[in-house]
Amino acid sequence: MGRWIACMVVLVSGLGFAAAPGPKPSAERGKTNLLTRSYNPPTMALSNYHNAWKHWGLDQKPDDADYDRLFRERYGLHPAPYPNNGLPMGLRAAPGSFALGTRNGLTTDCLVCHGGSIFGQSYVGLGNSTLDFQAFYEEVGGLGGRKAKPPFTFTNVRGTSEAGAMSVYLLGYRDDELNLRLTRRDLDLQDDLCEDPPAWWLLKKKKTMYHTGGADTRSTRAIMQFMMSPLNPASAFHKAESDFRDIREYLLSLEPPKYPLPIDQPLASKGEALFKDNCARCHGTYGENWTYPNKVIALKDIGTDPRRFEGITHKFGEAYNKSWFARDYQAIETDGYQAPPLDGIWATAPYLHNGSVPTLYGVLNSQARPKLFTRSFRTDRDAYDEKHVGWKVELLQRMPEGLPAIEARKIYDTSKPGRSNAGHTYGDKLTDEERFAIIEYLKTL
Ligand code: HEC
Ligand code: HEC
Repeated sequence: MGRWIACMVVLVSGLGFAAAPGPKPSAERGKTNLLTRSYNPPTMALSNYHNAWKHWGLDQKPDDADYDRLFRERYGLHPAPYPNNGLPMGLRAAPGSFALGTRNGLTTDCLVCHGGSIFGQSYVGLGNSTLDFQAFYEEVGGLGGRKAKPPFTFTNVRGTSEAGAMSVYLLGYRDDELNLRLTRRDLDLQDDLCEDPPAWWLLKKKKTMYHTGGADTRSTRAIMQFMMSPLNPASAFHKAESDFRDIREYLLSLEPPKYPLPIDQPLASKGEALFKDNCARCHGTYGENWTYPNKVIALKDIGTDPRRFEGITHKFGEAYNKSWFARDYQAIETDGYQAPPLDGIWATAPYLHNGSVPTLYGVLNSQARPKLFTRSFRTDRDAYDEKHVGWKVELLQRMPEGLPAIEARKIYDTSKPGRSNAGHTYGDKLTDEERFAIIEYLKTL
């Protein structure tokens, strides 16, 4: 029965919790923290970055001129739009250690999943829709050039990750005060939820966050779950809390990128009227006096894939709520998925919480959604479907046999657990003319 959010929660607002102590949070400081500090100590040597090609089936190292790009393309990473020592967004050079056997370490940060690019431009806070975290971990995360084996699946299908499972797994190694335990408690680990990261610029409108609305957006600790590397003692969380208060403030300051191509304004106005009639009750209204109803729609009504909802259970929710993470805001139990604000929606394909629908047109016509497909996993204009708004895909008749795992993860098979693209049929009764008007309007958000 448990429908808990992998992260945290709520309802305590009326109980008189005092505001957190400390200086007023600063978006400016938060930006610096996010883009220059590392909150998980390195578990890899920096040289792993330069040696990764040895796992690519090549006889010799590609030219230096091509290496960074080939590395990004293989794992689905994006150029950093800030100084990052030549590393892609999401990787960070950090001092090594005796245990690591080098002074030059490499670690990952939030932007490995929360940094993306579109039309050749990288954005902090655009969910990474191309990431293969499984391949990255296996080929770059090992010691001494060996392949690493993750303790559970990190990515089932490219562009999604098992971020929820990471929390469930890592919290199992912590007691309520976040001290490390010698043995892991199983908090119902399930690694087929196929989660697509929400854009960070939506956070400022949301009272609750995560796909099920299971966490209170005011919670700083909820977003510190990604610090649960076993190399971090409990004291690291206490020390980092004020940094994360600033990071949260920075996330609240982000704005969506504007649609870069011409928009047919008269058509968009028609679409706006249709949107108000058919969509606004769940997704809100836009413009200066915007509204956002913050609604969670019951699973039986929305009808989208149930795995994300079912896959993080009461057992995790209870452990979370007893822990240090929930001392400010408890995790909330909900009955379905939150209808997100649609600001910048043109840039955040693929759609739905599991990234199962490649275009807005598909969101509005459930009959037209592809069932088995792949895409280039590039994010330039050539990869973009301007008519249907989202990613161009290639349809497949059946799953090819004998593909290496890294190639198989490029194929989205909607018959697999966690990957259904059913549900959300609110656009089915519209005509195509109406759908394209709504799509034109969505470009303006
Ligand atoms: C392995 C990929 C990954 C990493 C690393 C990661 N996240 Fe996330 N994050 C996700 C996914 C996926 C979700 C959606 C989770 C869900 O509800 O299923 C999410 C959700 C969130 C949300 C809620 C967004 C919303 O609107 O609901 C916030 C805020 C957030 N992450 C912040 C962070 C911060 C800060 C860090 C670094 C400390 C971080 N994340 C690291 C993948 C990641
Ligand atoms: C009854 C409430 C409801 C109505 C009406 C509704 N939606 Fe949604 N919508 C949702 C929910 C809930 C989700 C998230 C479902 C999921 O991810 O599983 C969603 C998801 C979406 C998404 C994908 C968002 C993303 O970031 O992946 C788009 C786009 C969208 N809706 C557009 C529309 C449009 C356009 C209309 C009107 C034709 C509409 N919706 C009508 C509840 C609604």
